[in-house]
Amino acid sequence: MLISLIVAMDRDRAIGSKAGNIPWDLPRDREFFRSYTESKWLAIGRKTYREMEGWFSGHHPIVITRQDDFEPFESRHQVASSLEKAIAMAAEAGAEELVVCGGAELYKSSLPLAEQLRLTRVDTNTGGELRFPDFETLGEWSLQRSESHPADHSNTFATTFEFWKKNN
Ligand SMILES: NC(=O)c1ccc[n+]([C@@H]2O[C@H](COP(=O)([O-])OP(=O)(O)OC[C@H]3O[C@@H](n4cnc5c(N)ncnc54)[C@H](OP(=O)(O)O)[C@@H]3O)[C@@H](O)[C@H]2O)c1
Repeated sequence: MLISLIVAMDRDRAIGSKAGNIPWDLPRDREFFRSYTESKWLAIGRKTYREMEGWFSGHHPIVITRQDDFEPFESRHQVASSLEKAIAMAAEAGAEELVVCGGAELYKSSLPLAEQLRLTRVDTNTGGELRFPDFETLGEWSLQRSESHPADHSNTFATTFEFWKKNN
């Protein structure tokens, strides 16, 4: 089963702040996230899951939390106490891919296990203190494709969509 990550970060690698919520409103990136994750199995940190209430439709979310008594928003959403357990659950259900959707804590622990990365670079500085790891300097990843879009009336910042693969 493929393990992939999807993330958007600013010029300082910020993905959000401790106060919560994603620090931009970019319909183009939302649409990319939606179309990439549609119908897939998702691994989501408990804090990010709470922020995304009402968002999941055909997805198969697995919330990662160390709380024994965590109650998901819907009974069909699953809960795992570690990323490794979420991987096992998705594999057992026959998933072809598990997409790690953040946040910062979960990205950090999942990066060593991931083979693909969908990264949106957002051309701004938000001042957010939660950062995505500096994976480019590890020498383990190669950029496969990159597509840039300028800012426009509905997307306030320029964005670059990048597809990275881990080297064999
Ligand atoms: N820009 C983006 O692409 C993007 C994407 C997603 C999220 N975000 C932002 O990221 C921020 C949230 O990130 P965060 O780091 O504070 O929280 P998070 O990773 O969403 O959730 C952290 C919680 O998830 C559980 N958890 C995480 N990793 C775990 C592991 N390996 N094993 C067991 N449990 C684990 C723990 O839950 P318990 O405390 O319940 O045990 C932990 O407290 C928000 O601002 C959000 O908007 C940005």
